[in-house]
Amino acid sequence: MNYKVAVIKGDGIGPEIVTEAQKVLDKAGEKFGFSLDYKEVLMGGASIDVHGIPLTDEAIADCKASDAVLMGAIGGNTSTSPWYKLEPSKRPEAGLLALRKALNLFANLRPAYLYEELKGACPLKEEITEGGFDMMIMRELTGGLYFGERKTIEENGVRKAYDSLTYDENEIRRIAKRGFDIAMKRNKKVTSVDKANVLDSSRLWRKVVEEVAKDYPEVSYEHMLVDNCAMQLVRDPKQFDVILTENMFGDILSDEASMVTGSIGMLSSASLNETKFGLYEPSHGSAPDIAGQNIANPIATILSAAMMLRFSFDLDEAADAIEAAVKKVLEDGYRTVDIMSEGMTKAGTKEMGDLICERL
Ligand code: IPM
Ligand code: MG
Repeated sequence: MNYKVAVIKGDGIGPEIVTEAQKVLDKAGEKFGFSLDYKEVLMGGASIDVHGIPLTDEAIADCKASDAVLMGAIGGNTSTSPWYKLEPSKRPEAGLLALRKALNLFANLRPAYLYEELKGACPLKEEITEGGFDMMIMRELTGGLYFGERKTIEENGVRKAYDSLTYDENEIRRIAKRGFDIAMKRNKKVTSVDKANVLDSSRLWRKVVEEVAKDYPEVSYEHMLVDNCAMQLVRDPKQFDVILTENMFGDILSDEASMVTGSIGMLSSASLNETKFGLYEPSHGSAPDIAGQNIANPIATILSAAMMLRFSFDLDEAADAIEAAVKKVLEDGYRTVDIMSEGMTKAGTKEMGDLICERL
């Protein structure tokens, strides 16, 4: 089989880590009998530099014409990069938001789990993490505060700004269904996170989640307020299986959850629409401060590529093989600087890609 993949290398460490993921994908293709045609697409700062805007219609069309999108990371240093002198709608991040919307990528999956081999990097006490933890954050990605009406105005000489948080029941239902579907394939538990003690949008969220839950009698579910959830993530991360939440809460909680694992350089993510199409990217950012030094950890991007094979192409065997090769490299003691510990062997970005290919 041949698949078309749009590749957004992006900014900062993006190009280096995506190159390693492509290397691993091609190796997996040789082994499992599939091939990928890559189409390079500009987005974010890289697109601003060439076209003056972070996302062109042509870039959207190229993504739509592909079977999936593989992405590195976008954005630069917000205090020093000239990209951040542009008006907000022309900055790198605006390109990513517009792409999510244009491709209708409403379901964002962000796994956060403790790698046995990297337990030492976890900032929590051992008694809390004993036995590990493994959760999936299911973040709504095309609604809520990110896409609601916003404005900055001046009233009687006083500057005023507002952003609105809107969800309709259909938007809530489709993401809730995805959350429960994923839970069925995992440990059958959903924690729906909201702020229903204050927000109307959260009260509707709760009602719709309850309606959806009726169709999944095997899944146990609970509601949790977002402030409590932020606390529970560091108090007892083991309690979570699937965390289902709206866009902004998911943005914040997924960063917290990844930090709790201690190895954000290892965490992948997928953004999916109603079909098999998806955009796959590491959970971390573009780390402009270490770009071009061959020290970035490419594993999160390589694991995102594995997710692409699994979710978009149904190539489960190849995805399993990539995940197993990553595990083997860690077992063999290789580490990039971000996850380095005593007695381990240091590997650069390229070396890490090669080591994983060798074990495929
Ligand atoms: C993320 C990022 C983006 C978001 C930014 C870059 C707009 O933080 O993917 O979590 O807030 O969604
Ligand atoms: Mg974020």
